Amino acid sequence: MATARGRGFDRLLAYIEESMGFATSMYNDAYLDRRISARMRRNDTEEYRTYQRLLESDDDEKQALLDTLSVNVTSFFRNPDVWEALRPVLRDLTASGRTTVWSAACSDGREAYSLAMLAHDDPQVREDRVRIVGTDIKREILRKADRGEYHASETNDLEEQLAPIGDYERYIDRDGDSYRVSRAVRRMVDFRRHDLIRQSPPDEFDLILCRNLFIYVDSDAKRAVFETLGSGLRPDGYLTIGMTETVPADCRSWFEPVEKRLRIYRNAR
Ligand SMILES: C[S@@+](CC[C@H](N)C(=O)[O-])C[C@H]1O[C@@H](n2cnc3c(N)ncnc32)[C@H](O)[C@@H]1O
Repeated sequence: MATARGRGFDRLLAYIEESMGFATSMYNDAYLDRRISARMRRNDTEEYRTYQRLLESDDDEKQALLDTLSVNVTSFFRNPDVWEALRPVLRDLTASGRTTVWSAACSDGREAYSLAMLAHDDPQVREDRVRIVGTDIKREILRKADRGEYHASETNDLEEQLAPIGDYERYIDRDGDSYRVSRAVRRMVDFRRHDLIRQSPPDEFDLILCRNLFIYVDSDAKRAVFETLGSGLRPDGYLTIGMTETVPADCRSWFEPVEKRLRIYRNAR
């Protein structure tokens, strides 16, 4: 059935899915349309059909569209209140033993490193017991994550992002414009590629952070991701989602709110 945006739009989505390998069927149409229309404006193109012809003949435009579709916006300590609320969670988990954490859809790794720095920073957290796995669907972003180096010119104010950790220079080696996460912090995190919609969890975890992905995906994909997360969580494990995101109604009984406003839950199954 054709969507409200018409046949040209549907054909274009089918082309992106089949020939460019981006699963458009999993993302919501309004989000896809906003992103595609932005590229069309950059190319002075008004018709979806004309834009599809451009994609068919121009590899640079294909790459530019793929970059636009997978939004990687992130920061250190995004929503600082959430990180404060994660301190007691980490204390509780590490008091009982080895603690495995999954930063799912981790983008360039700043979320995973925030957790590692928090573990170092909090005197009541045993950081030697914490292992973190960061995963994302996008290979290039994982290479950046693995390096753990960020440049002031590429992002919003890094000092401001790092403010919640106080004396951040204990965990970051700074050289002018470049901020590299220290070796001791990097050592706690492993990065690998993983598709949350199509793959089962890479392990079982005590704490999963999966934040700011659901805003882009449609309801079927959202449910698939919650199934993946639910099956990757240990009994009594914790889950945190983005502050503007919600658990779908039919998965709500799987997770008991711990801090409702901050979207921190505990496995209830
Ligand atoms: C906006 S970023 C969120 C980064 C971080 N979690 C945060 O809240 O700051 C969304 C990330 O989801 C990733 N992503 C999109 N679809 C995915 C999928 N099916 N499986 C895993 N990651 C996905 C994108 O590549 C992107 O890096």
